[in-house]
Amino acid sequence: MASPIVLLVSILSLVTKAIAQSLNVSTVAVQNGTSMLECWSLQSPTSGAGAQNYPLGDFSNAFIGAIPPHTYIGAAWPASIQYSMILQGLVHISLPYSDDEIYIQPGPLSTLLVIDQRNVSISGHITDFPGSETTLIAQFPVTGNKIPVHTVLHSGPCGLGDVRGLTG
Ligand SMILES: *[C@@H]1O[C@H](CO)[C@@H](O)[C@H](O)[C@H]1NC(C)=O
Ligand SMILES: *[C@@H]1O[C@H](CO)[C@@H](O)[C@H](O)[C@H]1NC(C)=O
Ligand SMILES: *[C@@H]1O[C@H](CO)[C@@H](O)[C@H](O)[C@H]1NC(C)=O
Repeated sequence: MASPIVLLVSILSLVTKAIAQSLNVSTVAVQNGTSMLECWSLQSPTSGAGAQNYPLGDFSNAFIGAIPPHTYIGAAWPASIQYSMILQGLVHISLPYSDDEIYIQPGPLSTLLVIDQRNVSISGHITDFPGSETTLIAQFPVTGNKIPVHTVLHSGPCGLGDVRGLTG
């Protein structure tokens, strides 16, 4: 019969493995009523057909936005909790009350989760598109406007060290 300690160790290693494999995404989150950037770890993936499949949940009315080069939007709030995936171009996000900022391009750090709606953040976040090509963003509003299940890895955006599982 397995001892309780052996069982505990194997459960812990399962839990660690699940957390270790999760998708990490930069998130425009809210602390103390203002927007800031955090790196969030989402639910653990399933595997199939040689792939790791990272769950993102259900979406409604997803779309692709095309934004001309050198566009400045300024401080704004998202209409709903949503994921954005940068397909082409360059996005710069900064914050009225924080020094955090992020430049997002296609690649392993191209997903942004935005949850700082007007009723939870007094500041919103500032978006501009400093690149010289049209930026294409696939936008996925989360069904029911629910904050995805997550743990906060650290404050500030995710970096290359947070997506090693995607870069090999
Ligand atoms: C939120 O406000 C409290 C009280 O003023 C402060 O102690 C805390 O550090 C603030 N948290 C952040 C993330 O700024
Ligand atoms: C903020 O408003 C959204 C609708 O836009 C709603 O789904 C959400 O529950 C509200 N959040 C809070 C904390 O009231
Ligand atoms: C997410 O972050 C965790 C904790 O740092 C790390 O172990 C894991 O490899 C990261 N996930 C990916 C897909 O890189």
